[in-house]
Amino acid sequence: MSAARGEPVIEMRGIVKSFYLGTPNELEILHGINLTIREGEFVSIVGASGSGKSTLMNIIGALDHQTAGEYTLDGVPMTEMSSNRLSEIRNEKIGFVFQTFNLIPRSTALGNVELPMMYAGVPRAVRSRRAMELLELVGMGDRAKHRPNELSGGQKQRVAIARAMANDPAIILADEPTGALDSSTGRLVMDIFHRLHREQGKTIVLITHNNELAEETERILTLRDGNIVGERAGKGMVQP
Ligand SMILES: Nc1ncnc2c1ncn2[C@@H]1O[C@H](COP(=O)(O)OP(=O)(O)OP(=O)(O)O)[C@@H](O)[C@H]1O
Ligand SMILES: [Mg+2]
Repeated sequence: MSAARGEPVIEMRGIVKSFYLGTPNELEILHGINLTIREGEFVSIVGASGSGKSTLMNIIGALDHQTAGEYTLDGVPMTEMSSNRLSEIRNEKIGFVFQTFNLIPRSTALGNVELPMMYAGVPRAVRSRRAMELLELVGMGDRAKHRPNELSGGQKQRVAIARAMANDPAIILADEPTGALDSSTGRLVMDIFHRLHREQGKTIVLITHNNELAEETERILTLRDGNIVGERAGKGMVQP
C-alpha cells in the first residue's frame, strides 16, 4: 500500500551549486539540475566519487542552499530563509540516514529516536512511546537502552532509520546507508527501506555506490561531473 502517487515532493529547476573558496575562486559543482521526484517514489542516485551526489542531497534535504535555480520541497519554495526556518522544515519533512550513522553517543537508542520529536515539541510520553514503536519496527526494541558504542554497525543504522522516521517525514534521504556495512547487514538495512516504501508509502532517495542495490529501486539517476546524465527504470523490487 503506497500513498497516492503523482504529487511532486521534490521539484528542482536549473539548480546550480557553487562553493566560494575566497574571492575570486568560485567552484561550480552542480550545473543546472532538473529533477522531479513524486510522492511514494523510491529513487536512487549513482555516480562516481566527487560527481556531486552528496552536494545534491544536501540541497534536497535543506542542509544547504542552492546558488541558483528553483527548488520546491513538499510544496514549500526553498528560497532564502532563516536557518531556524530551514531546520524546522528539515525536522518536519525529512528523515536523514548517513553512512556513518551520526547517532548521539551519550544518548541511548531510545533517546536518539526521541530527539527529533523533542525538537518538534512532542510531549515526553508520546515521544517515548513512538520511539519504542519505531525501534520495534526496525527490530531494535530489545536494544532500546543501549548506547551507540554498544551496538553493531547494522544495529546503529537501524536506530538511525528509526530516528529518521520519528516525525513521520514526507521524504527519507539516505546517503550511502550501507556503505559501512557488510553485504548481509546491508541487505537487512535495504529491506527496511523497501518495507517503509511499500507499507508506509515513504518517498525515498538513496545514494549508493552499490549497483545491485540501485537496481532494486524504481528509478536510477546517474550523476556525472555535476549533471544528471542518465535516468532509467530499476526493477523496483518488492521484497516478500
Ligand atoms: N564545502 C565544499 N567546498 C568546496 N568544495 C566542495 C564542498 N563540498 C563538496 N565540494 C566538492 O564538490 C564535489 C562533489 O562533492 P560531493 O561530496 O557532492 O561528491 P559525491 O558524489 O557525494 O562523492 P562521494 O561518492 O565520494 O561521496 C567534489 O569535488 C568536492 O570536493
Ligand atoms: Mg558523497
